[in-house]
Amino acid sequence: MAKKRILSGNRPTGRLHLGHLHGALANWVKLQDEYDCFYFAADWHALTTEFERTEIIQPSIREMVMDWLAVGLDPERSVIFVQSAIKEHAELYLLFAMVTPLGWLERVPSYKEYQLQTGRELSTYGFLGYPLLQAADILIYRAHGVPVGEDQVPHIELCREIARRFNSFFGEVFPGPKALLTRVPKVPGTDGRKMSKSYGNAIELCEAPDSITRKLKTMMTDPARKRRNDPGNPEVCPVYDLHKIYSNPEVLQWSAHGCRSAEIGCLDCKGALIPLVIQSLAPVREKRIYFSEHPREIDEILEDGNRRARAFAQETMALVRQAMKI
Ligand code: TRP
Ligand code: SF4
Repeated sequence: MAKKRILSGNRPTGRLHLGHLHGALANWVKLQDEYDCFYFAADWHALTTEFERTEIIQPSIREMVMDWLAVGLDPERSVIFVQSAIKEHAELYLLFAMVTPLGWLERVPSYKEYQLQTGRELSTYGFLGYPLLQAADILIYRAHGVPVGEDQVPHIELCREIARRFNSFFGEVFPGPKALLTRVPKVPGTDGRKMSKSYGNAIELCEAPDSITRKLKTMMTDPARKRRNDPGNPEVCPVYDLHKIYSNPEVLQWSAHGCRSAEIGCLDCKGALIPLVIQSLAPVREKRIYFSEHPREIDEILEDGNRRARAFAQETMALVRQAMKI
């Protein structure tokens, strides 16, 4: 029986960190068992905000793809490719633009939110069209599912509306893809805020063990535990959030109880966590180093992925042109 197809992508942002791993990548890796997967670097999407420093995009694609491979995306099973290598995405985006009411794009929440959050007035046509390009990315592979985070759900909904509208004008070409939401653990950075490169609080996937140790040793804890004898509350402690990801039930129990009763200190608690994080990243780091020493392999993987993606995209475009009589 043919497997269902899923597709997901990320804007190339350089080296990835634990937030990316537990928020999305671990799930992408698992989905490979069940689906035909397409994973891509959304470099055109990066251009919508980074058009003033485009030179960061190419190196970021390679860094990101190396991290993907290091955590277990398998280029034999999954099609790993770069958006801008498949010009058909742009063609489909243009054709979709003909049937997309402007109001649909203006009401996508991320459009105004980005401008509010960053204080950056981004009134370009490309930025407004961002979710439409995303719809083309998804529908050109006639994907059934799109594993994404909560923040992307409005984009997937728009994609479904576009598919429905296209089909109603031109006949059934596209399935209505669904967002595949997974429960993701909270991954705080070293300062307790959400892990993010821009906050400078991230632990990278290829971070060296001594650097992981240093970062975790100075990581923020329950601020109420000022002294060793003060009891703490693990539920408000970001270190405990990491324990929930890395520790077994016994260690979790030991840490929570020891914290509340002040039987253990924060350094003891962190001391149990640190080797677990280091061990789980060791194989990732090893593979990552291998790929950075074998850059030709990355080229080959992307060439192969681009070729497979393009063949599929071209098939879809043939159906689209036929349906539209162009
Ligand atoms: N918008 C996504 C993000 O910001 C990236 C993306 C572009 C994407 N095209 C996609 C995700 C298609 C899923 C499917 O993370
Ligand atoms: Fe956090 Fe552990 Fe310290 Fe409690 S003992 S505050 S859970 S680091």
